Amino acid sequence: MNAPAATSDIALDILDAAATEAAVPALAEILRDCVTNGASVGFMGWNTAADYERFWRDVAAGVAGGQIVLFTARNADGIVGTAQLHLVGKPNQPHRAEIAKVLVHSRARRQGIGEALMRRAEAVAREKGRDLLVLDTDENGTARRLYSRLGWTEVGTIPRYALMPDGAACGSTFFYKDLRPA
Ligand SMILES: CC(C)(COP(=O)(O)OP(=O)(O)OC[C@H]1O[C@@H](n2cnc3c(N)ncnc32)[C@H](O)[C@@H]1OP(=O)(O)O)[C@@H](O)C(=O)NCCC(=O)NCCS
Repeated sequence: MNAPAATSDIALDILDAAATEAAVPALAEILRDCVTNGASVGFMGWNTAADYERFWRDVAAGVAGGQIVLFTARNADGIVGTAQLHLVGKPNQPHRAEIAKVLVHSRARRQGIGEALMRRAEAVAREKGRDLLVLDTDENGTARRLYSRLGWTEVGTIPRYALMPDGAACGSTFFYKDLRPA
């Protein structure tokens, strides 16, 4: 196994709609890799490259509409990680946003990229006046440790919330983070 690369070798970007469209193949490959490796992130093992690409084109539309901030992490190989900040549009929740699709390609994990993406997403949420963040994740996934380590509060797990890519049921664990100064 190669020695882990330093996080300083990683560039974090925020993509506009055109850059998102251009990045669709790379983003679809990250999603395919995560699903193939058993992550419960909205897709099943039988989903195809076309499904993943369609998903990212919809994200590009959300970026164009201002509802989604899309983050990517890039190393010498290209885009290897991504995360999204969804700016909740409800008039009574102007202070809230959701974190979604935190994905790092399996060949680039355990280098601090997931943490760096989360820290950047939280910083941008603050800049946008969104100081209450919410997310959910597979109860058995490695992301659960990441969110706890970053100071997110675990609310609880809803059993049978979703399916794993192989069809097995899995619970979803819900977290929030209050970004207001203590
Ligand atoms: C969850 C996920 C995004 C984490 O990405 P990542 O880039 O590996 O995250 P990090 O490197 O910041 O942290 C992962 C682990 O590597 C460790 N690590 C970080 N830098 C390291 C380094 N240089 N050397 C060794 N270990 C390191 C961290 O301490 C952490 O340890 P943990 O397993 O005890 O939590 C990634 O595993 C993934 O994409 N999973 C599949 C998709 C998924 O489930 N996403 C969540 C949807 S809500």
